[in-house]
Amino acid sequence: MDASILKTMKIKILGSGAGGGFPQWNCNCNNCKRIRSGEMNGKTRTQSSISVSSDNENWLLINASPDIRAQLEAFPAIQPKHGLRDTGIKAVLLMDSQIDHTTGLLMLREGKPLDIYCTEMVKQDLTTGFPVFNMLAHYCTVNHHPIPVDGSSFTIPALTDLRFYTRALKSKAPPYSPHRHDPHEGDNIGVVIEQISTGKKLFYSPGLGEIEEHAMTAMQTADCLLVDGTFWTEDEMIDQQLGKKTAAEMGHLPQSGHGGMIEILNKLPNARKILIHINNSNPILDEDSEPHRQLLQAGIELAYDGMEIDL
Ligand code: MLT
Ligand code: MN
Ligand code: ZN
Repeated sequence: MDASILKTMKIKILGSGAGGGFPQWNCNCNNCKRIRSGEMNGKTRTQSSISVSSDNENWLLINASPDIRAQLEAFPAIQPKHGLRDTGIKAVLLMDSQIDHTTGLLMLREGKPLDIYCTEMVKQDLTTGFPVFNMLAHYCTVNHHPIPVDGSSFTIPALTDLRFYTRALKSKAPPYSPHRHDPHEGDNIGVVIEQISTGKKLFYSPGLGEIEEHAMTAMQTADCLLVDGTFWTEDEMIDQQLGKKTAAEMGHLPQSGHGGMIEILNKLPNARKILIHINNSNPILDEDSEPHRQLLQAGIELAYDGMEIDL
């Protein structure tokens, strides 16, 4: 039998919620209230993070959420196995410098040197406005590996059968970034992860504000799309009086409406389609709701904490 038949890229969803998680600690919105009281058919969600492996032993952590401690405890394959101090996490890849994607790095301070792959812009934020790298340097060594923003590829030594293609996406730097109001290439990226031996590809982008041509091209080549599921509508935060910003202002493309994520994904009939980074305000979280039904009808899945995807 061809050995490649046995090979799979494993994707573990550690956290499928957006910043704040679901329910959010201080939120009494329709969703948060009902999930707490047991009145909603749905799942609670921790904050946005996944891990990927081609051998079920050596893992790349993509984004480090504030909920990382519980996420790792719920995932035996990534836990210590050899010797007194150990981890399956061989490197960390960051998609941006947002709080929900980087605060968890502080929880990894007891580890060996941390190999962190991120853009120069993300590194800049994490050494200035939110100086996590500087803080970590007092506990463990941080090895920063700069990554491309033009879609070219790189590999990571401990993740032998995987190849990564990273590209800048239009977005905004976080509020604490020194260039918050002056967007730079690499503030936010999307990644294609290819298993070299099988050619299978995952496209991952938890923050996808608009579908640029290069993003569409990347999506067309992928076998699985794990994409921005933050909001159902453009004005969701405003309509529910939870915030003042539109989805676009926050760098997220909503699912519904003309040009929305459902319409985009409908153009990609061959890929498995999964939404991730789902905000607690999003009506799709209610599995008995009409928006949830519409997603299922379009062949779109919702990522959930603990979900495993084999590619
Ligand atoms: C976002 O992606 O917009 C974030 O989830 C916001 C946040 O973390 O506060
Ligand atoms: Mn976020
Ligand atoms: Zn809420």
